[in-house]
Amino acid sequence: MNYDEAKDLLAGKGQSHLLRYYDELSEEEKECLLAQIAGIDFSTLEKLDGKKEGTDAVRNIEPLGALTIPEIEKNRDYYEKKGLDAIRQYKVGAILLAGGQGTRLGYDKPKGTFNIGETKELYIFECLINNLLEVVKKAGTYVPLAIMTSDINYEDTKEFMVMHDYFGYDAEYVHFFIQDMAPATDFNGKIYLADKGKIAMSPNGNGGWFTSFVNAGLLEVFAGYGVEWMNVFAVDNVLQKIADPCFVGAAIDSGKVSAAKVVSKAFPEEKVGLLCTEDGRPSIVEYYEMTDEMMYSKDENGMPLYNYGVILNYLFSLDELKRIMEDPLPVHIVEKKIPYIDDNAQTVKPTEPNGYKYELLVLDVIHLMRDCLSYEVVRDKEFAPIKSLTGVDSLETARELLKRNGVEY
Ligand code: UTP
Repeated sequence: MNYDEAKDLLAGKGQSHLLRYYDELSEEEKECLLAQIAGIDFSTLEKLDGKKEGTDAVRNIEPLGALTIPEIEKNRDYYEKKGLDAIRQYKVGAILLAGGQGTRLGYDKPKGTFNIGETKELYIFECLINNLLEVVKKAGTYVPLAIMTSDINYEDTKEFMVMHDYFGYDAEYVHFFIQDMAPATDFNGKIYLADKGKIAMSPNGNGGWFTSFVNAGLLEVFAGYGVEWMNVFAVDNVLQKIADPCFVGAAIDSGKVSAAKVVSKAFPEEKVGLLCTEDGRPSIVEYYEMTDEMMYSKDENGMPLYNYGVILNYLFSLDELKRIMEDPLPVHIVEKKIPYIDDNAQTVKPTEPNGYKYELLVLDVIHLMRDCLSYEVVRDKEFAPIKSLTGVDSLETARELLKRNGVEY
């Protein structure tokens, strides 16, 4: 794309300000800026108009039960054996979503490299690998692991893992890939400049992981292992079980094409995404979309009718992921703090949200699935997310849970 083409394109999109500092750039910087402009997917930003007009349709949501903890315990040996058999045949791959920016933690390196230890070093990545190694030991085989990073944290993440010798994991089974980026805008949809010749881009959410995985050539690699199930999980839950044989066995046994680990809601207003059905298909309702009915209705046993919250640990059948690959995911428009360069060429680091990021979310992939096994786990044993330093879902609460589960830190 040359300058005139970029100028015309941006004028048509109301984004001409992106060329504001063009004349001050070196030839190389000019080229780089034009390439960034050529790469912008403007259709994503158009979703903002829909949001402003409040076009959200009424949704036809109904509760979804779960395979409960007592039911799982009754069949644990059977499920575990089934799961271990699948793992031994390399039918299960693990996908670590580590492309987020972890802004709530206020740590500017990849979240997985955060040291949560007090008396010794213990990194978030180390906790996850330790958990996965327990399965490797049981199965006697490695689980192929793909780590998704963003452009921003790829080098740091890879270097960190190499420096720590993958915390004892066999590097041959570890594959990195990079997710896509999307431009960040102010509240009126104007794209921010991060610098005179650099557009403010941020990772486009965790929902595009499969497309990025395929584009990186990893579908062939994982199919080559024989993988049939992908276990997708977040970086920040230091207690989670990865490629959990019992979960895998139950998913296979259910005959369904996906499965989600869930926890019972701790209290009606808890901020968790609820696994429900929508128009007969599985669907996750985010906490801010919950109606009073969904928060407070009870079933005939006096239990919450909408009871099961997701913890971002899913199993997807690879065939089903391939089938839905071209189906569009909704774009979530999220208020965030976005550093930018202002009209006086000063860099501004806002302390309050000053605009939007545009994200695809993995929870929407569930709604594209034909069906989903809702699989209940014990919250205190499997759910210790670190979103911030203090308060709910924080370093503090995670340390307490690690202690209760006998993990030294
Ligand atoms: P979060 O929703 O906690 O987002 O991500 P975040 O960006 O890490 O943190 P905040 O909101 O800025 O504090 C849930 C999981 O999805 C991954 C994260 O790394 C985490 O494992 N993620 C998120 C991605 O892989 N890519 C993204 O673009 C966003």
